[in-house]
Amino acid sequence: MGEGFTRDLVRQGWRVAMVDLKPNPKMNADLGDDNVSYYEGNVADYDSQARCFQAAYDRYGRLDLVCLNAGMIDRGSLYILRHKNDKDTIPPAPDLSCTDVNIKGVYYGTQLAIHFMRKNKETLPGGNNIIVWMFVRAVARVLKIKDNIRINSIRPGFVVTSLAPPGMVEAFDKRKTTPLATVVRALNQILGDQTMSGQSLECSVEKIMLTPEPEYLNGELSKRAGFVWEPAFTAQHGEPSNLSDAGQ
Ligand SMILES: NC(=O)c1ccc[n+]([C@@H]2O[C@H](COP(=O)([O-])OP(=O)(O)OC[C@H]3O[C@@H](n4cnc5c(N)ncnc54)[C@H](O)[C@@H]3O)[C@@H](O)[C@H]2O)c1
Repeated sequence: MGEGFTRDLVRQGWRVAMVDLKPNPKMNADLGDDNVSYYEGNVADYDSQARCFQAAYDRYGRLDLVCLNAGMIDRGSLYILRHKNDKDTIPPAPDLSCTDVNIKGVYYGTQLAIHFMRKNKETLPGGNNIIVWMFVRAVARVLKIKDNIRINSIRPGFVVTSLAPPGMVEAFDKRKTTPLATVVRALNQILGDQTMSGQSLECSVEKIMLTPEPEYLNGELSKRAGFVWEPAFTAQHGEPSNLSDAGQ
């Protein structure tokens, strides 16, 4: 997906810094060194990701969009079905590398994006974007108020990429896979709509659908559970949230 985003962004005139465990020389040769640069890094390692952000910032002098799409499939097996005949031995610790990359990596990248976007001397017409899949609803309002950063997520259906285990693509009905072009269109929809913040776009085959806000199951009382109390917010973050519905 990162390659799909990069090729489309470069076509539109963006310059893209790619962070990955491994380079993509074919793409770099196709797009040219002026348009795309590669930084070797492990997004699950904060220091490694920070070095990549710093190197990219040093080269380009600004940061306007971050797509946190590096990822992997889960390698663990929480059901421990292979262990069920061994009732006397504690099972080995779960393999949480997927959590480290797909969840922690996104938190790390979001924090680094905020840091580097704050350095931008002026805001591009339209402001800044960060694309993540998780937690956008929770952080979007404060990020918009404090830093004019928009954060949105894209949730793709099954896109045929290198992530799919061998044989899976053949087993899947081809007509039901989501073309990469749909995901790229979703990114462009986010880029083009400056009002979009805290939203999630589901990409399913040809469709891009705005995910509706979940219903509060116990109405006002459920909503109240997410109450932000300014004294607690200030104690944790160093300044008030300035949310219009925060309690004083
Ligand atoms: N392909 C799908 O159907 C699909 C659907 C929904 C969500 N996703 C999610 O989207 C993300 C991207 O998937 P994709 O299909 O583009 O996969 P992909 O394998 O084509 O690309 C993922 C890239 O991330 C890189 N990467 C993996 N671990 C890394 C790390 N620790 N540090 C830096 N780079 C790392 C890989 O080298 C690879 O180039 C994944 O997190 C995946 O779970 C994929």
